[in-house]
Amino acid sequence: MIKHFLSTEDWSQADLEGLLADAGYLKQQPIQNHLHGQSIALLFLNPSMRTRTSFELGMQQLGGTAIVLQPGKDAWGIEFEPGVVMDGAAEEHIAEVAGVLSSYVDMIAIRAFPQFQDWSIDRQDATIKALAAHAAVPVINMETIVHPCQELALMMTIKNHLKQVKQKKFLLTWTYHPKPLNTAVANSALLMTSKFGMDVTLLCPNEHYLLDDHYLATAQAQCAAHGASFTVTHDIKAAYQDADFVYAKSWGALPFYGDPETEFKHREPFKHFIVDGAKMALTNQAKFSHCLPLRRNVKATDEVMDADYCVALEEAENRLHVQKALMLNLMNQSIKTQEPS
Ligand code: CP
Repeated sequence: MIKHFLSTEDWSQADLEGLLADAGYLKQQPIQNHLHGQSIALLFLNPSMRTRTSFELGMQQLGGTAIVLQPGKDAWGIEFEPGVVMDGAAEEHIAEVAGVLSSYVDMIAIRAFPQFQDWSIDRQDATIKALAAHAAVPVINMETIVHPCQELALMMTIKNHLKQVKQKKFLLTWTYHPKPLNTAVANSALLMTSKFGMDVTLLCPNEHYLLDDHYLATAQAQCAAHGASFTVTHDIKAAYQDADFVYAKSWGALPFYGDPETEFKHREPFKHFIVDGAKMALTNQAKFSHCLPLRRNVKATDEVMDADYCVALEEAENRLHVQKALMLNLMNQSIKTQEPS
C-alpha cells in the first residue's frame, strides 16, 4: 500500500511528532544527500510563493530534483472527473497524468484549491483523491481543502515557543479580507492543534463563519481525547483572554459559498476582527502567527506584524524543514540512522 500525505487525519500524533523531530534535525543540518537520484513533480493548479520555493529548494538540499508543472499554463490542462466526455478545456485525464508521472518521478505533490461553486462537492476533496487513486507513488497535499504541510510548520513553531503544548490556549481567529478565501488553513489549524491536545478556541463573527461540521467535530473529539477544551465563540475579548498562541486566517462563509456578492455583504461589518496590539495585550504574552500571504492592516496591523511576538516568518521557514522531513519519510529514509553527508 502506498503511503500518501493527503491529510494529517490519516497520520497518528506519534508519526507527526516523528516528522517534527526530523524537521528539527534538518533545521540544524540542512544539506543532505539522502534523496540523490530521486525526484518529485510539483503540480500547481493555483499560485504559490512559499510552497513552491520550499519544496523546490528542499528537494535540492536533499540531493534530489523537483519539477514544477502548472497544468493549464505550462502543462496540459487536466480533467479529474471519472467518466466524462472530455470536450472542454482539459487536454488529458488524471489517469494518464498520474500514470506517466509515476513512471518518471518518486513522489507527486499537488496544489488544487476548491472550485468555490458548491461546498457539498468541494468538501469531498475529490481532486487529490483522484490523483492518489491513479498514482503509483506517494502523493503530497500542497493545499486543497486542508493544508497539512502548513499544519506541520505551525506545530513546529508552536512547540518551539511553548514547549509543552498540551492544554495551552490556542486561538484561531477569523479575520476580514476583501475576498472570500479557502477554509483550508483554518480547517488544518483545528486538526493539528486538537490532535496535539491544545485548548482550542475558534473565534468568528457569527454562525455563518463556522467551519465545516467535519472539522468542528474532529477538533472537538480530539480535544476531548486529550482532556482539553474546544470552544467556539463570537466574543473577541473572551477569545483573546489568556491565549498562549494566536493564529489568524480569513475564510468565506460556507452558507454563501459560490455567491461572493451575498457573502461580501455579510463580511463587510466585521473589519474589526483585525489582529491589533490591544487584542494581543489581552493574551498570556502570546506569540502571533499567520500562514502568509497576509494583507497588512487588513488582517493584522503593522504593529502586530513587526512585533517581537510575531513568528509568521519562522513558520514560513519551517515549511522548508517539515517538508524535507516529510519527503524523507515517504521515501523510507530515516535521518536518525544516517550520518549527515
Ligand atoms: N502559506 C502558503 O502556502 O504560501 P503560498 O501560497 O505562497 O505557497
